[in-house]
Amino acid sequence: MAILVTGGAGFIGSHTCVSLLETGHEVVCVDNLSNSSRTALDRVQAITGKTVKFYECDILDKPMLSKVMRENAIDAVIHFAGLKAVGESVALPLKYYHNNITGTLCLLEVMGEFGVKKIVFSSSATVYGKAETVPLTEDMPTSAYSPYGQTKLMIEQILKDLYVSDNEWSVSLLRYFNPIGAHQSGLIGEDPRDIPNNLMPYITKVAAGKLAQLSVFGSDYPTPDGTCIRDYIHVADLAEGHLKALDKVRRERGVFIHNLGTGTGYSVLDVIKAFETANDIKINYRLADRRPGDVTICYADPAKAKKELDWEAKRDIVQMCRDAWNWQKNNPDGYGD
Ligand code: NAD
Ligand code: UD1
Repeated sequence: MAILVTGGAGFIGSHTCVSLLETGHEVVCVDNLSNSSRTALDRVQAITGKTVKFYECDILDKPMLSKVMRENAIDAVIHFAGLKAVGESVALPLKYYHNNITGTLCLLEVMGEFGVKKIVFSSSATVYGKAETVPLTEDMPTSAYSPYGQTKLMIEQILKDLYVSDNEWSVSLLRYFNPIGAHQSGLIGEDPRDIPNNLMPYITKVAAGKLAQLSVFGSDYPTPDGTCIRDYIHVADLAEGHLKALDKVRRERGVFIHNLGTGTGYSVLDVIKAFETANDIKINYRLADRRPGDVTICYADPAKAKKELDWEAKRDIVQMCRDAWNWQKNNPDGYGD
């Protein structure tokens, strides 16, 4: 039996493919390569010495998804495929709703037709909206401030409703905090197509001299150093969380919601300092205005994942910074395409 990974050529998907292959799973990957490169999967194969069966396939393409299901004995699906740029989702909401929601509906319909009813879904800490207290626990109220966030909330609801309609489904909703870092080999990592929106890829591009200066968005927040606090998590830890979630949906039926975070918050200035210390490189930065939409403090209570999935993050911020830089240094132009 194989695991179908949608969006498996992407940042988190490629690292999860490595973890799956290393633990003896067969992997079938579908990706339309809209935000990734085929090379990532070649590298996954180089790291593991194992094969990923790849289909260049859009999850909106139901006939193609059916073909994938027919040609492979799929046991469960890990569903990463989606668009993820918050700002772009505000400018192009229909693109996001169509790709993420309609795409997921197509996938679920085909899964249902083939009797594949186990799914692990990439949700996000963004579903906690502007929560008033931290750490964030899974039972806290949810809300969304962007079309991107809405798609995560809606898909969570669709999957909950699906389970209510048919108790044979088994659903894991994983709410990721801020994934950074890269595989320790330096062969796979995050490869943003344009100027990065997120902090760590921006820092690594400044370190590499590809961008002149990092703007620290806001230094007057009510935090110890005035900058926002986030729960950064190594992408390899996140990948391992998926294996545990997969075990859960293969064993039990139901809807399971888990935070995947470390439980520790770091400010933007903390991250810059950690990067400088870990890699012995100075980062040119300036304090700038706040970025609209940012929440002040966001970090997980990871206790539920520890208790129910037997998972916790193991890699610290220094390793995250070292691995992110190792990837950037070895691949100045990402995957080069
Ligand atoms: P990514 O863009 O690197 O990976 C997503 C992959 O999905 C890409 O390879 C892309 O080509 C593919 N894809 C998009 N639409 C598709 C479609 N219609 N059909 C087939 N393939 C399609 O992003 P990532 O950082 O690896 O994120 C993976 C998932 O995790 C996404 O759903 C994202 O929203 C979610 N997530 C990411 C973060 C983060 O900070 N990276 C945080 C929370 C949640
Ligand atoms: C962002 C998204 C969130 C998504 C997450 C992962 C927004 C408002 N939120 O989260 O929905 O789930 O990415 O993809 O876009 N920062 C700088 N300078 C920079 C870039 C970032 O100071 O050039 C700061 C930000 O203000 C923030 C922190 O670094 O305080 C982390 O930012 P980022 O990496 O973009 O992640 P989030 O904003 O947490």
